Amino acid sequence: MTEKANVETSEAEIAVHMQEEAYFYPPRDFVAQANMTDESIYDRFSLDNFPNCFKEYADMLDWYEYWDEILDTSDAPCYKWFKGGKINASYNCIDRHLPKNKNKTAIHFVPELEEDAVQHITYQELYVRVNEMAALLRDFAGLKRGDRVTLHLPMSAELPITMLACARLGVIHSQVFGGFSGKAAGDRIEDSGSRVLITMDSYYRGGKLLDHKKKAEEAVAKAAEDGQVVDKVLIWQRYPGKYSAATPIVEGRDFMINDVLKDFYGVRVEPERMNAEDPLFLMYTSGTTGKPKGCQHGTGGYLAYVTGTSKYVQDIHPEDVYWCMADIGWITGHSYIVYGPLSLCASSVIYEGIPNYPDPGRPWRIAQNLDVNIFHTAPTAIRALRKIGPDEPAKYNYKFKHMTTVGEPIEPEVWKWYYKVVGKEKAAIVDTWWQTETGGFLCSTLPGISPMKPGSAGMAVPGIHPIILDDEGKELPRGAGKAGNICIQNPWPGMFQTIWGDRDRFVTNYFARYCKNPKSKDWRDWPYLTGDAAVEAPDGYYRILGRIDDVINVSGHRLGTKELESAALVVEEVAEAAVVPVKDDIKGVVPDLYVALKPGFDASDAIAKKIMDALISEIGPIAKPRKVWIVPDMPKTRSGKIMRRVLAALSNNNDVGDVMTLANPDVVELIKNQVQK
Ligand code: WT7
Repeated sequence: MTEKANVETSEAEIAVHMQEEAYFYPPRDFVAQANMTDESIYDRFSLDNFPNCFKEYADMLDWYEYWDEILDTSDAPCYKWFKGGKINASYNCIDRHLPKNKNKTAIHFVPELEEDAVQHITYQELYVRVNEMAALLRDFAGLKRGDRVTLHLPMSAELPITMLACARLGVIHSQVFGGFSGKAAGDRIEDSGSRVLITMDSYYRGGKLLDHKKKAEEAVAKAAEDGQVVDKVLIWQRYPGKYSAATPIVEGRDFMINDVLKDFYGVRVEPERMNAEDPLFLMYTSGTTGKPKGCQHGTGGYLAYVTGTSKYVQDIHPEDVYWCMADIGWITGHSYIVYGPLSLCASSVIYEGIPNYPDPGRPWRIAQNLDVNIFHTAPTAIRALRKIGPDEPAKYNYKFKHMTTVGEPIEPEVWKWYYKVVGKEKAAIVDTWWQTETGGFLCSTLPGISPMKPGSAGMAVPGIHPIILDDEGKELPRGAGKAGNICIQNPWPGMFQTIWGDRDRFVTNYFARYCKNPKSKDWRDWPYLTGDAAVEAPDGYYRILGRIDDVINVSGHRLGTKELESAALVVEEVAEAAVVPVKDDIKGVVPDLYVALKPGFDASDAIAKKIMDALISEIGPIAKPRKVWIVPDMPKTRSGKIMRRVLAALSNNNDVGDVMTLANPDVVELIKNQVQK
């Protein structure tokens, strides 16, 4: 429905009502130790120095053979970075650190049950385990360079071990988020043509040991239905030596990795010398229509980009303890839990469970006990922690030097809580805007150089050159504060190479709209369409307003859903807000506003009115919602994103579809009774 509203809109500009916030300056202690404090980096990475500027990132890696051509555009817009180079990602994330740092912790695995011991895996141990697993994949599963393998693993140390074992062999891994259904995994097995599925018997979530093996049965059945036979299911055991799922084992197809590994003790596998442009992994992401797209990421370009941005934007030093709370099943986890941090020899924390188990103080206890100093999470988690445990961080003695937010625009109110309460006003914050497709960050401040501005992602990171185009393809004047479609003018090493098996869809979805000449081999003719609406302020900071199709058109006036949500969050009692479009005979579409309150507040007409008034005073009468629904909780995906689609269906009296995959399916019925009475 939003899509339709969008199609009917001819003007490209979205009214922007949010005020620009004041700057916050990075703490002096942070700047004193930051990896990047030299402003001339922006000149080094200017368009004039493109693409050679990216040599700086490639040189952070170890190459078997140095590349001879930095960027090959002969098959534009499918680019090849660092052509002629030979490299291995597993070698760069492990072997090269051994001479100096073999005793350093590579991975801290924190089980959800607090009484279970944290596992501290050193680089040497990671080396041993990755080699043995690589030997198993090669000699037992018969996998070789170029094959695809589907992983459907929960948050565990075995997940990066499996990924790095694949990378060692040049096998293309495709990790499906563990919370996804077996059927979703089956679709991805079929699309990638995997004949091996790697899973785990069980894992903890919310204090319960879930039977995860059950999903492997659904996945294999679904893939078979679609014509892809899985001949081996390899199963890690949550408790090595003990099978902890109720789902039976299928003789001849299912194998316990822990058992089979015994045949490979002590085996070492020489890393494959991969071409820089060989694919490293697939990451599926859903589009607005059709089946999920397998974003194909390359080896040399991707690894260089996530290493460079981890160093300059995440400010990772080898002595840091870095904790990104995302799931490795998303691109954030691939780039900024596994490949970037390990390439820089940091210690990366992997937490099995949910942030509020057994109580909302858990994240801060983990941070305190492991002495985490870089913390990375999403606005959704920040809002949730602010809602259920606003005073918890103060009770713990941890110190963050740096914090990241990623995945959605963050409302200034929420940003300020993150800064003051979580960061204790001592951490630099970066708001990183990017996508599954982009492999790494597109916009963010450089924390040792630029001030922070709540609600803004900041400037483009070095080497990324955005432009904002209107619907006709005309460039909006720089820094004019007008909104339009944000595109990236130039390619960059982290960008995906294509959609697996569907080059046409890659070109059509991301380039066709603004391509100047479909036959061109010149990157200048192929601006990359991000699909987000954005506005650039006079200081060059970008504010992301949401997906182009998240825009609501009220009486021909376009409002970003985020602007309305941000205004609602100014009201003290409000913890979370979600805006959805409702069909209206007169205005076309009007917004419905859903809010959840902080603990200790009960829904009342007075609060609803206060929120309504806030929207009118913050934005104007045009933003007045049809109705403010105060609900017990928002329907959420297991990764924590609010399911606006479900709310929109309820508001429009449509079928909500299958909600069983939500983290809290029961809340849908409660809201339905409230809204559709
Ligand atoms: C979409 C991409 C980035 C990795 C995780 C999500 C939105 C992402 C921000 C941000 C505002 C953001 C955009 C983007 N988004 N980061 N800092 N501020 N919006 O990856 O699932 O591919 O989603 O998330 O709309 O297009 P993804």
